Amino acid sequence: MAKALITGITGQDGSYLAELLLEKGYEVWGMVRRASTESYERLEHLRDRLNFVQGDLLDQPSLTAALQAAEPDEVYNLAAQSFVPTSWSQPVLTAEFTAVGVTRLLEAIRQVNPAIRVYQASSSEMYGQVRETPQTELTPLYPRSPYGVAKCYGHYITVNYRESYGMHCSSGILFNHESPRRGLEFVTRKVTDGVARIKLGLAHELRLGNLDAKRDWGFAGDYVKAMWLMLQQDEPDDYVVATGETHTVERLVNLAFARVGLDPKDYVVLDERFVRPAEVDLLVGDPAKAKSILGWEPEVDFEGLVNMMVDADVERLEAAKR
Ligand code: NAP
Ligand code: GDD
Repeated sequence: MAKALITGITGQDGSYLAELLLEKGYEVWGMVRRASTESYERLEHLRDRLNFVQGDLLDQPSLTAALQAAEPDEVYNLAAQSFVPTSWSQPVLTAEFTAVGVTRLLEAIRQVNPAIRVYQASSSEMYGQVRETPQTELTPLYPRSPYGVAKCYGHYITVNYRESYGMHCSSGILFNHESPRRGLEFVTRKVTDGVARIKLGLAHELRLGNLDAKRDWGFAGDYVKAMWLMLQQDEPDDYVVATGETHTVERLVNLAFARVGLDPKDYVVLDERFVRPAEVDLLVGDPAKAKSILGWEPEVDFEGLVNMMVDADVERLEAAKR
């Protein structure tokens, strides 16, 4: 039985990846941070099939101990401070988690067992002020947030461990991917949760920032399949994972309100507090390499994704009301 260790298993992607690996017959280990209250909400349905080990990307000995306990064949490094606005208010912590944390983990893997295959969660946020459109694995990076800068470091240190030590380290440059399990502060979930609250009479407005920003949004359940496929290749490499389509935040808002039969003009309020010091205006990825080498294709389209998220939020809030 193959064994995998997932850092960030309590997050959105961690929960979908854990499901996928269990389906494939893996023994799945999750590295979790110690907290005074547990945050396993996204894993409740899987919990008794998973193994947990405590560890933190800030603490190198805990990473070594986690690897020794799990003895994985594959490590998926999904842990990070992943919310872009927080990276301006906590830039140093973001660098410690999202940048240097990757080196701590790679170094622990090199010491414990350099044959372990590694997936690093890189990000389209690295393209920032984009140098070309669509963005490919070869597009120059120009990050626009402390988070983007930290992800560039994580990406290049992953490439460097591959080239320095011949380790099987792959980096997935994933464009935005969402789901009903997305954190409530990210724009898709903020919108779908807000729309559901307005529909059910629990809120009367939705305050947002820049509606003109464009993103290439896909479904998280599709994207974790690409992570797994990367580690099944004979050779490690870097891959863009995206849908190849871009949409404005405004279109996201319009689709979400339309799903419940309401007009966004009656509810959306522009709020400067949600406008960023530096914006990434446009992201659209070219997934040709992932398609041709990994055989990966997204299955859920943008409208299907928005509808799935709105429906899930309406259902959840209705159940809570009952
Ligand atoms: P998420 O929901 O925010 O989950 C982040 C995970 O990281 C959580 O499990 C969190 O644990 C854990 N974590 C944070 N700091 C840690 C630390 N110091 N030590 C150990 N664990 C720590 O993020 P996601 O959306 O699933 O994204 C997964 C990864 O992909 C992240 O690295 C993100 O930056 C990257 N990414 C995401 C997207 C996207 O659109 N979703 C796109 C490109 C790249 P707690 O539960 O303890 O907080
Ligand atoms: N969060 C948020 N809240 N974003 C808003 C809002 C708002 O009220 N109003 C407008 N936006 C705009 C942001 O300015 C940004 O242009 C866009 O919506 C998307 O914001 P987020 O959903 O917060 O995602 P992100 O693109 O900054 O970052 C996500 O994707 C990256 C990949 O490109 C995160 O998942 C990162 O971890 C990931 O790496």
